[in-house]
Amino acid sequence: MTMPYERRRAPAAEPRPDANTLARDVVQGLTSNPKTLPPKLFYDARGAELFERISELPEYYLTRAELEILRSRSGEIAELAGPHATLIEYGSGAGVKIRLLLNALESPAAYVPIDISREQLARVASELAAEYPAVDVRPLNADYTMPLTLPPLRDGSRRLAFFPGSTIGNFHPMEASIFLRRVRRTVGKSGALVLGVDRRKRAGILDAAYDDAAGVTAAFNLNMLARINRELSTDFDLDRFAHRAYFNSKASRVEMHLVSLAAQTVHVAGESIRFAKGESIWTESSYKYDRARLRELTESAGFRLDRLWTDAKKQFWVAYLSAM
Ligand code: AVI
Repeated sequence: MTMPYERRRAPAAEPRPDANTLARDVVQGLTSNPKTLPPKLFYDARGAELFERISELPEYYLTRAELEILRSRSGEIAELAGPHATLIEYGSGAGVKIRLLLNALESPAAYVPIDISREQLARVASELAAEYPAVDVRPLNADYTMPLTLPPLRDGSRRLAFFPGSTIGNFHPMEASIFLRRVRRTVGKSGALVLGVDRRKRAGILDAAYDDAAGVTAAFNLNMLARINRELSTDFDLDRFAHRAYFNSKASRVEMHLVSLAAQTVHVAGESIRFAKGESIWTESSYKYDRARLRELTESAGFRLDRLWTDAKKQFWVAYLSAM
């Protein structure tokens, strides 16, 4: 997915997993209690398109707020990072936000975009290599949630990881801590991380951001069932499930669910999955952080919270974290 700023950055559409892996994930999720489906299944081509529309919705403030912060703070980020940094971006997508950093940093040495979408990664890497001829662009086609090995890099340059978009919020806190620990190992003791995080805020704002008036987020959520029907020949009736999203204040997360509107049975890879009326499939969590929780998370992973910037409406954080 390429997109100039107006089209914004979406998580990369995943290459189609093979039917066995998909069937295994779906059956495992739907036979657990509560029923779940993994959020990575949102991002087929249609899901990625819907996410782009979400990021432009009036209710979905996250993308706009983060861009506002990155635009106004990229100079400070550059000062903190110093010259000749190697940038490592987790989930590089269309390479939109990274341009703000590449433009601001003093003589960046290298850029390692990591993404699961091979074609998009190759395209964006060659665009950036042409735009920034002095930067050594070394794409890595990988699932960044798994341990990975970086391409060979020139020794001695400071490593600056970049993980924008509040994607950290889609990890449960324990997974987030494990992921950040891995990032910490990758950047080394002189490294740093620029992290985009959504702030905890009033439930009304969060509920609207994940259940917009135009119904785009509902379509995004239901598209997961359409995708499973198409790829696994299952028989989900999309009219008998409804999108539900709400802020779970105790857990500090927005939960998205697909609620069964009737007692029904769905057939998946030889299994009959029964739904009671009102029973839900939990499809996503989006954790929202206050300063204390963010500090706790990042320190547990070996990072010191050096700077925490917010936007004019105080909705989003961008953190600059140095390795401890
Ligand atoms: C990709 N991720 C950060 C989005 C979020 O806000 O959790 C996914 C999303 N789900 C519903 N709307 C957007």
